Amino acid sequence: MKAPPKAALDELVARAKAARDRAHAPYSRFRVGAAILTKRGEIFAGCNVENASFGACICAERNAICQMVAAGAKDPIACVVVTSGRGASPCGICRQVLAEFARDMTLVLVGLGEGKAGKGKERRRATTLKKLLPDSFTEFEGEPHR
Ligand code: THU
Repeated sequence: MKAPPKAALDELVARAKAARDRAHAPYSRFRVGAAILTKRGEIFAGCNVENASFGACICAERNAICQMVAAGAKDPIACVVVTSGRGASPCGICRQVLAEFARDMTLVLVGLGEGKAGKGKERRRATTLKKLLPDSFTEFEGEPHR
């Protein structure tokens, strides 16, 4: 799937950065912002929300997808993820959750360039969900109730 045009991408990056600024990450101190673009041009943003019970932490990408679903929107076509450093690839759970709503989408991984790994320069890397999660499990058919 093709990356969105530059103006749309810039807007997504801005929204993901603003969400990242609101991250609740007192434990890892790793702030993440995500912004999802739908086929109809809507944007939904999310940040990571950590918890003292670590297993309850929610990633930015899943938060953004939940915002989309709660708003009654559908058909995500692109997702921008903003982190410090060189940019981070979504975790396995987030890949699976994104795959629930789109067979494929563009992902743009943005590194803000801070820290040792970042070398001081903002970096954007485009990839696709298909590449990150090939052959995903989406064909759930439960057994009939007894
Ligand atoms: N995190 C995300 O928000 N997205 C990912 O795809 C990977 C990890 C968050 C979860 C946790 O709050 C912090 O980054 C460190 O793992």
